[in-house]
This record gives sequence, structure tokens and C-alpha cells, in this order.
Amino acid sequence: MTKGNPVKKSRPSLLLDAIRSEERFRLLVEAVKDYAIFMLDPQGNVASWNEGAQRAKGYLTSEIVGKNFSKFYTHEDIASGLPEYLLRQAEENGRIEVEGWRVRKDGSRFWADVTLTAIRNEAGKLIGFAKVTRDVTERRQNEETLRAKQAEINQLQKVEALGRLAGGIAHDFNNLLAGILGCAEAISPVFTDDNPAREDLQAIEEACARGRLLVQQLMAFSRRQVAAPKTVHINSIIEGMAQLLQRAIGSTIELHLELDPTLNAIRMDVSQLEQILMNLALNARDAMPVNGRLTIRTANTWVDETNVIDGLPDRPCEAIELTFSDTGIGMSKEIMSKIFEPFYTTKAPGKGTGLGLSTVYGIVQQNKGGISVFSVPKMGSTFKIFLPAQGVVRKNQPLQTEKLSDMFERHRTELILIVDDEPLVLRNTVRALEKVGYSVLSASNAETAIESFTKARGKIRLLLTDIIMPGKNGKELADQLQRQDPMLKILFMSGYSAEIIAEHGIMKEAIALLEKPFNAINLINKVREVFGNAL
Ligand SMILES: Nc1ncnc2c1ncn2[C@@H]1O[C@H](COP(=O)(O)OP(=O)(O)OP(=O)(O)O)[C@@H](O)[C@H]1O
Ligand SMILES: [Mg+2]
Repeated sequence: MTKGNPVKKSRPSLLLDAIRSEERFRLLVEAVKDYAIFMLDPQGNVASWNEGAQRAKGYLTSEIVGKNFSKFYTHEDIASGLPEYLLRQAEENGRIEVEGWRVRKDGSRFWADVTLTAIRNEAGKLIGFAKVTRDVTERRQNEETLRAKQAEINQLQKVEALGRLAGGIAHDFNNLLAGILGCAEAISPVFTDDNPAREDLQAIEEACARGRLLVQQLMAFSRRQVAAPKTVHINSIIEGMAQLLQRAIGSTIELHLELDPTLNAIRMDVSQLEQILMNLALNARDAMPVNGRLTIRTANTWVDETNVIDGLPDRPCEAIELTFSDTGIGMSKEIMSKIFEPFYTTKAPGKGTGLGLSTVYGIVQQNKGGISVFSVPKMGSTFKIFLPAQGVVRKNQPLQTEKLSDMFERHRTELILIVDDEPLVLRNTVRALEKVGYSVLSASNAETAIESFTKARGKIRLLLTDIIMPGKNGKELADQLQRQDPMLKILFMSGYSAEIIAEHGIMKEAIALLEKPFNAINLINKVREVFGNAL
């Protein structure tokens, strides 16, 4: 070939190159896995499909070619005409880029970043669209998490600022209250008991007392409260506040006090204690919108590893137990798991700040105590607060387990069946009874308990069961097992008092009941009592 005819020579190779490069391009597009790249005809029907498209949307080429691309859109988008609108936009503008939900073959959704480009021939006629879609769900989720975190930080900053402000106001307000109270006290001797102004004076004093509580709440919230612990007798604080509490809960709720006259003293800041009482009473009020009863009970107790109480120190100690029991709406397990979180509230906006129980929790922890909660929807709630008793040297001696196990030697053949859906309670109860020589079987629900009972063929002497459990309740279980063995002894355990249980009609007759949380001494004594040989 001569030098003068280069065109002739290169033409076939150029064409070949073009074909090859088109083939390479097609292969490249087909092989792309991270992007769905496909072509649509002018009406929006799928004309080509790559591996990325198959991965993103789940359709095989044979399933989707020829079908309209609106298949990838949500029902809402189809109903609003979005697919058609996007095609026309791309046609008019040459290219559009949008983000939105798309639907896979299996019906699941993903957040897509879509580029739609109109393709025209040399004459300018629309011959179709190239569509590139990328699944950016993860990116969107990350952005959302980031946005939520930012909102959380903003909220925390707001709360922090609010806390500072509240602390400042509380401080000044406290001084004002002190002034008012001081004046009220100063003029008090002027008014004799028969003076009609005496009632007004009393109202001023009560209003000041309420104001003081409010201040403490605000101060606790802004963490400015300085605790001044001293020896206190809870009973007298409760009695002193009874009128105020009754007024706070309203006349439709009956306030019941059951205060143990032998109650040990504790060491605590009085205003912190008042705050606990007020918060628990107000929560009980909100849980009983129509009517009901709030029982406040105090008792001496011994805390050991058998009591399952959040936040209590590990070492056993002599403690006092403060119980607030209401007959209100109760709580689901899900709500119960969150109630001590700051700002957690189920109340309508403006009705609750969600700071009440987190403040109570903080105070109890600061005083090395613990809280336990028992609640079931529609059954009411029981909050128990345990605070270390002051200066009491082991009045309730802990169990001398070796000696006791000798004494219980003869029980070894008596089997006890323990049923509770709370694994921790179950484990600790089993452990405490085994420690003193009883043989025990355990079950986490009534159904398993029935199986164990049948297998044990009359060897079980005592059923120790929780009352409120998912599935069959403790009472139904006891009835069924007692029908099989009328000699079977029954001891119930519950976070509720016998009174409340009777009130809800679960149990009409008198029952042997062990109130939760209990310690090893309560447990063993009660078991022995049921067997008729209490210590
Ligand atoms: N006695 C109770 N019965 C039923 N639910 C309760 C009871 N006490 C607390 N709760 C639940 O726990 C949530 C948190 O209580 P918490 O006292 O921390 O906040 P709050 O009462 O909602 O608001 P605040 O106390 O700040 O006015 C309540 O919103 C409610 O759902
Ligand atoms: Mg509250």
C-alpha cells in the first residue's frame, strides 16, 4: 500500500474500533454492580438492564425488559403520577437528578439517587432515556442518625441552659419564700386560734411549703442542691406531709398510711426525702385519674442478695423499706424499662417533664439505696425504696446457714416447686432455699411448672409461685395443681399486697403471700410457716 491512500486503509479498522469500543462499553455497563444502569424507551418501558440493576431491584433481565419503569415506584408515587412527570421533566431539560423511595421486586423499599438523561438521535428525536440509579439508603440513614444526634445535642444544650436559668431563679425564689415564711412566723403569735385570719396564715405557710418543694425540684434539676444529711425518722416526715400529700393527690384518691412504729432511723437530707414522697405521690395521682387508693407503707427490712433491687450496694445491710402502692393504670414492661430515664414521660406535652423519677433515682442512689418497681397494666404500681438504716447493728441477724441447714435436714425429701417469670427472682429464690437444705425445682411459667409437677409424681409438697405471669397466672396454676394433689401447700409471691390482689378479684380467699422483693429471712420464715413449723 502507498502512503497516499491512508483513508482507504484506515476505514475498516476505525469501524472495527468503533464496534469494539461499543462492545467494550456495553460489557462495562453490564458489569457495573454498584449502579443500576438501564435504558428506557420514550414511553418509559425498560429496554436494557445491567447486573447492578438486577442487584439493586431484584429483577432478572428476562423479567423486566419491556415492562414500564413505574414498577420501581411506590404506590403513592404512582398514584400522584410521579414516574410520568419525571420522564417529561428529563425530556424537557435533557437531564434530571432526584432522590426518593423505590421498590424492589420483593416489595422492600430503598432510598435511591436517580439520574435520568434523555437520549436523542442526530435529528433531535427522542429515542429513549438512560437511567442510573444508586441505592443510598445507608447514606441516608447515616445522615438521619447525624441529624438526630445533632438535635439531641441541641436539646442537651438547651436543657443545660435551662438548668442554669432554673437554678438561678430557684435560688432567688427560695430567698423570697424564706422572707414570706419569716414574716408569717413573726406575725403568727398575734393571731389567736379563734382569729379568722389564722386560716389565711396557715394557707400562707402551706403555700410556702409547696413553693419550697418546687424550688428543690428545680435545684435538683439544675444539680445545685446541696444535700445536708441528718438522722431522720421517715414516719414523722410522712405524717408531717400527709395533709400536703392528700391535697396534692386530690380528694378522689384515698391516702392510706401504714407506718411501722418500730421503724429504724436513716441518715438523709429531709428535703430530698420530701421530694421523693411528693414525686411518687404525684405520679400515683396521675395514674388514678378517676379514683383509687394510694398506700404508703414503711417497714424495717434486711437487704441481702435475695432481694432483687436495682442500685443497692452488694453488701447485705439493715434497711428501711418505703412502699408506694397505687391502684392506678399501671405500666407495660416496655414503659417500666424507661421510667428512670431523664425526660421520659408518657404524659401529654406540658403535663409532665419526665424528671420526677430520674430525680428520685438520683437521690436514692446518692443515699446508697435502691428502688424496685412492680407494675402490670390496669393493676396499679408499687414502688419500693430501700434506704440503709442508720446505726442499727444487725438486728435481723443474717442466716447462720450451716446451722440452719442442720435444722432443715429433714426437709431434704420435701420438694418445693418455684415458679416466676423473672429470671433473677427465680434464681435467687432457688439459691436461698437450696442454701438451707430444701430440694427445689424451678419453672419460668405455669405450663413448664405443670410438666415438672406431673413428672415429680406427688413428691412436690409446696408450690411457691408468682401471681401475675404471662399465660396462666399463679392462682390458676395453684388451682390446677391442687386439683391433682389436694395436700399440696401453696405460697404466693407478688409485688402487690394481698389487699390489692383481692381487690382485683384474682384472689378472693385469704392466702399465704410473700411480698416482693423479699430477703432470705422473709422467704425461709414464710416457707417454714406454710409447712407449719415457723422458727
Ligand atoms: N405510679 C405510676 N403508675 C403508672 N405509671 C407511672 C407511675 N409512675 C410513673 N409512671 C410512668 O413513668 C413515667 C415517668 O415518670 P416521671 O415521674 O419521671 O415523669 P412524669 O411524671 O411523666 O413527669 P414529671 O414527674 O416530671 O411531672 C410517667 O410518664 C409514667 O408513664
Ligand atoms: Mg412524675
